[in-house]
Amino acid sequence: MTDLPTFVPASAPVTFVGAGPGAAAHLTLGAFRALQDADVVIHDRLVGDEVMALIPAHVRRIDVGKEGFGPSTTQSTINATLVAQALTGARVVRLKGGDCGIFGRLDEEMDALEAAGIAFRILPGLTSGTVAAAAIGQSLTKRGRNGSLRIVTGHDMEGFAEQDWRGMARTGEVAAIYMGKKSSRFIQGRLMMHGASPETPVTIVENVSRPDQRVMAATLATLPEAVAQLDGPAVLLYGLSPRRARAALTELKEASA
Ligand SMILES: C[S@@+](CC[C@H](N)C(=O)[O-])C[C@H]1O[C@@H](n2cnc3c(N)ncnc32)[C@H](O)[C@@H]1O
Repeated sequence: MTDLPTFVPASAPVTFVGAGPGAAAHLTLGAFRALQDADVVIHDRLVGDEVMALIPAHVRRIDVGKEGFGPSTTQSTINATLVAQALTGARVVRLKGGDCGIFGRLDEEMDALEAAGIAFRILPGLTSGTVAAAAIGQSLTKRGRNGSLRIVTGHDMEGFAEQDWRGMARTGEVAAIYMGKKSSRFIQGRLMMHGASPETPVTIVENVSRPDQRVMAATLATLPEAVAQLDGPAVLLYGLSPRRARAALTELKEASA
């Protein structure tokens, strides 16, 4: 057996930190400590205001936010900034929304640091999908319903992302769909083409764990119209309906019996 390196040592020049989806309550204690010990924080647009407010005033902040499909800092500029800051000897925190290892372009940045011979550690965060499920009172896996969970993206570098639609269309499947706003009609079409019921619940959670969080209960049939009402980032919880809506439905059925 060989001793492999660990990327969760007590300290390293660069710390990748998952900020969680918004609320300070979703920041881990390790992430909080890393922010207190930092000299520089290089952060994304999706980091919540409550978390940003926890960065001490003397810490330098560098915003490398990407505006969805709009203007953005290129990945190569972000990589170069990260390396340049670390080479000054500063303690650098690279702060990303949610979990830095989920649709966070973490690999590109780790590769850049490795190429420059700079050590790093990773402090994962709560991803928006799990916090969204908690917000609607649902579990992402459930005995007898789904023994696996899909975390999928609506688009990738090629455009709308292809997924295992046939598998996802099976009854009882659950998926947390990220970046699914622009591709909602494509996702709907693909899933229905593979036999998913138009009545499959899809719950949209916008601005997860922020003061303006909004939950919309939709179905596969109504998904594109529901998504058209969104302004902020949103996770689509495919196969899950809000717990309260389910309870209300039961009450309704009982009342009409
Ligand atoms: C580039 S991905 C980053 C995901 C992030 N690393 C995570 O673990 O949540 C951006 C997408 O994540 C989702 N997302 C991130 N933060 C969110 C939030 N606070 N509320 C709702 N969706 C969010 C949205 O689907 C958004 O388009």
